[in-house]
Amino acid sequence: MSDHALAERPVIYNDDVVKKFVIASIFWAIVAFLVGVYIASELSWPALNLGLPFTNFGRLRPVHTSAAIFAFGGSALLGTSFYVVQRTCRARLWGGEALANFVFWGYQFFIVMAALSYVMGFSQSREYAEPEWHLDIWLTIVWVCYLLIFMGTLMKRQEPHIYVANWFYLAFIVTIAMLHIVNNLALPISMYSAKSYSYFSGVQDALVQWWYGHNAVGFFLTAGFLGMMYYFIPKAAGRPVYSYRLSIVHFWTLIFMYIWAGPHHLHWTSLPDWTQTLGMAFSIMLWMPSWGGMINGLMTLSGAWDKLRTDPGLRFSVTAVGFYGMSTFEGPVMSVREVNALSHYTDWTIGHVHSGALGWVAFITFGALYYLVPALWHKELYSKRLASWHYWIATLGIVFYIVSMWVAGIMEGLMWRAYDKFGFLQYSFVESVVAVHPFMVLRMIGGVMFLIGGLIMAYNLRRTVTSPTIEAPTLDTSMGGLAVAGE
Ligand code: HEM
Ligand code: HEM
Repeated sequence: MSDHALAERPVIYNDDVVKKFVIASIFWAIVAFLVGVYIASELSWPALNLGLPFTNFGRLRPVHTSAAIFAFGGSALLGTSFYVVQRTCRARLWGGEALANFVFWGYQFFIVMAALSYVMGFSQSREYAEPEWHLDIWLTIVWVCYLLIFMGTLMKRQEPHIYVANWFYLAFIVTIAMLHIVNNLALPISMYSAKSYSYFSGVQDALVQWWYGHNAVGFFLTAGFLGMMYYFIPKAAGRPVYSYRLSIVHFWTLIFMYIWAGPHHLHWTSLPDWTQTLGMAFSIMLWMPSWGGMINGLMTLSGAWDKLRTDPGLRFSVTAVGFYGMSTFEGPVMSVREVNALSHYTDWTIGHVHSGALGWVAFITFGALYYLVPALWHKELYSKRLASWHYWIATLGIVFYIVSMWVAGIMEGLMWRAYDKFGFLQYSFVESVVAVHPFMVLRMIGGVMFLIGGLIMAYNLRRTVTSPTIEAPTLDTSMGGLAVAGE
């Protein structure tokens, strides 16, 4: 066969594993939102802790964060990266069905075991890295297989160019591997015990943890989802990326700057001052690439804004990019030491987290899911009206959530630093707890709305899968609307 004929040969993609990840992501979304609502209710009405160890806020909180970030977000990232890398490379996943299935089941096994271990009281007490050493080793094995599949597929690509979404996905995979391994270096007390002690101590331990923690935000909650943005927005809009050059600048500046910003989590601690200043300076500089990326995402829609009226998935994606811009403006502001003196330890941080988590991470994922389910199952979306309901209920839920947390956070910060004329603290801590109670309830209501939106989506997508097929499966061998243009 000639080279030309070989290049034109249709590729049969491995979509089976993508479908599994899509289903897992929807399932974990509901679990994460449900546990989020429960712990938000515990913060409003502490009696809901029920006096039992495994329903205690301290144990359920990491169940929520891991279910949201690693189970819901992670399944979406792994699934979409497999979908995107195959299409943009015109190559079937490297390594065969068995390896892809191992990554799927291995990752789900990790999530279930991690959640069980938290409720049973096992934890390394490192935020977003709570699982103990044996689970960390298991995740490392699964992750290396994931990296091999992704790299292998890139290497056997039939397209000369590596599309920018793959750069972001690859940065996410490689950096998370590095962060996970270094932050989890620990000495188990014995081969048969789950308990281990960190390899680092004192302020070095704190710095390694927040180097990890901040870059989990930068590379898990940001870079991977930017990969999603750079594929699904141009695809849904039917337009090339606004500026391919800007996307490359966005990539390199983001990768270079994020890695230094971790110390902003340790302002006013025993970490040397110059390190805190370094973290702050890089955080402020991060504003620029972040907004460059936001502008690139939004401008991709120029000439196709009308599609927002008819494509509910695109509406989620575009709103997500708006929230990305908002939280990457707020973050640099909070990284300024004087602002952080007010915001740290308060619910302002929780508001910032969820404007990123709900507005950016969850919304960009919803956009991808509304695109992917009809595309993978060759169906028409069951109901655009339901998707529209989802959009409005969830958006209103976010507004309730973040506005209540801003008000509560600033109130806490101001109450804790208020002195009377004799130099005594004006308020006791418990007075601030009473003052923020209404806002805790308001946040819980926002969470319930977000959960209802998620349930509507799950129903809509389920009905989409079971509705009649609209076309015979076609083999998408083109770069579609992604053609590199708009230098
Ligand atoms: C129904 C939706 C949600 C509700 C009601 C909710 C509620 C909560 C609550 C009550 C906390 C604990 C706050 C505290 O300790 O004071 C929390 C923490 C957190 N949630 Fe959510 N959440 C939701 C969705 C999400 C999603 C989708 C993500 C990520 C994609 C997420 C990521 C996080 C993170 C990272 C934290 C830890 C924040 C920190 O330590 O500063 N949440 N959430
Ligand atoms: C330019 C971008 C950003 C910068 C400079 C930034 C900066 C910050 C700062 C200063 C804090 C408070 C640290 C503290 O007082 O302890 C924080 C917390 C946090 N941010 Fe951002 N942020 C950015 C974007 C985002 C985005 C897009 C997300 C996505 C979800 C996000 C998620 C979080 C989380 C989860 C925390 C809480 C960490 C914890 O204490 O558990 N951030 N960020």
